[in-house]
Amino acid sequence: MSTVSMDELVNLCKRRGFIFQSSEIYGGLGSTWDYGPLGVELKRNVKEAWWRDMVATRDDIVGIDAAILMHPKVWEVSGHVQNFTDPLVDCKSCKQRFRADDIKDSVCPECGGELTEARQFNCMFKTFMGPVEDDASIVYLRPETAQGIFVNFLNVLQATRKKLPFGVAQIGKSFRNEITPGNFTFRTREFEQMEMEYFVMPGTDEQWFKYWVNERYNWYVKYGIRPENLRLRPHSSEELSFYSKSTTDIEYKFPFGWGELEGIANRTNYDLKRHSEGSGKDLTYFDEATKQHIIPYVIEPAAGADRAALAFLADAYHEEKVRNEKRVVLRFHKDIAPIKAAVLPLLRNRPDIVETAKKLAHDLQKCIPTAYDDTASIGRLYRRQDEVGTLWCITVDVQTVEEDHQVTVRDRDTMEQVRIPIEGVKAYLRDKLESEC
Ligand code: GAP
Repeated sequence: MSTVSMDELVNLCKRRGFIFQSSEIYGGLGSTWDYGPLGVELKRNVKEAWWRDMVATRDDIVGIDAAILMHPKVWEVSGHVQNFTDPLVDCKSCKQRFRADDIKDSVCPECGGELTEARQFNCMFKTFMGPVEDDASIVYLRPETAQGIFVNFLNVLQATRKKLPFGVAQIGKSFRNEITPGNFTFRTREFEQMEMEYFVMPGTDEQWFKYWVNERYNWYVKYGIRPENLRLRPHSSEELSFYSKSTTDIEYKFPFGWGELEGIANRTNYDLKRHSEGSGKDLTYFDEATKQHIIPYVIEPAAGADRAALAFLADAYHEEKVRNEKRVVLRFHKDIAPIKAAVLPLLRNRPDIVETAKKLAHDLQKCIPTAYDDTASIGRLYRRQDEVGTLWCITVDVQTVEEDHQVTVRDRDTMEQVRIPIEGVKAYLRDKLESEC
């Protein structure tokens, strides 16, 4: 069985150290979450897989890492100060606030009270730069990483001499003062985005849009998401963001229902044009073929690292019966699994077995994320590693130290065991991990 409820997932995440509620000892802070020892590895693997496929293995895409705080004019010119809003209603009785488009019966969903007229609420977090808290020192926490790319368009173009089509990618934190965050890490006020702006010749934008929808859909499948849990959803014209000509969302069937993992948008030349006008700088590209200066169009695949990590977790979750006992196993793709191998001594009271196991673990750790655990019986240790998706359990036993210097390697998914010489373990695992390189 491979479905999991949200409660089961949240419990597993806390119990095994994937995700904790932020500031929990103080009662938590609404919809903010901290990644624990396994969660930080999981999210890092998600980001690394994205970077490898979107930047490192492509000649046409480069990366940047722009600051979260940007000149306040960026957000005026981009349209976010005016348009990055959600409709908000207040309940006149209980004073709670809701997104107007979440309300079904035009009364307060909490107490049935009368609601105010909807007004636009800007979702950007504001703060002050420097010691004086006045209007002149207002800055925003970026609500998308994309603007850091647009304002660096000229810098990247001059530094890299890229020709169209080319992309600039970035991974980083974004902040939105969401009216109704929720569903665990799905909608939070602080989150991490993985965005890429792909600059193309005007007129080729629709073809590139299709290309990127396809590429990005296949990316999730490549890393193990089952296609039956993915779908593409084109936006209706009323739903389109203020900068977009067309957008298609890649949605995942989360335990709470279908939700957006990533949006691919055709942002046209909107942003570069606005920043050209706003800054007075020439943000055009010189096209050698036509000898003309043009403003490129932009196709933007914009993904969320937290949502992708949550989808990989939910999709990996499997429960099965093994010898009449429940086995919970996270069947992560090998590149996504937080721990690749665990070295387990069969007897923890035998110093020679423990020493051999620790030595092997430390040797593997130099190149493969490897855990060492001797805190329970072998059966329980296997179950613990299955539950966090560790790909291989390596057991050191009496035979290892007394007879053959071989260990048992158990495969997470098939539970098959092979016996191989200790000296061959690193090459054996590396071979399997690098099978697609
Ligand atoms: N630059 C375009 C842009 O930001 P978006 O659809 O608003 O587009 C892109 O955001 C992705 O960022 C989403 O598909 C989602 O994965 C993630 N994201 C957006 N808001 C989020 C939130 N409040 N919490 C977690 N992830 C979020």
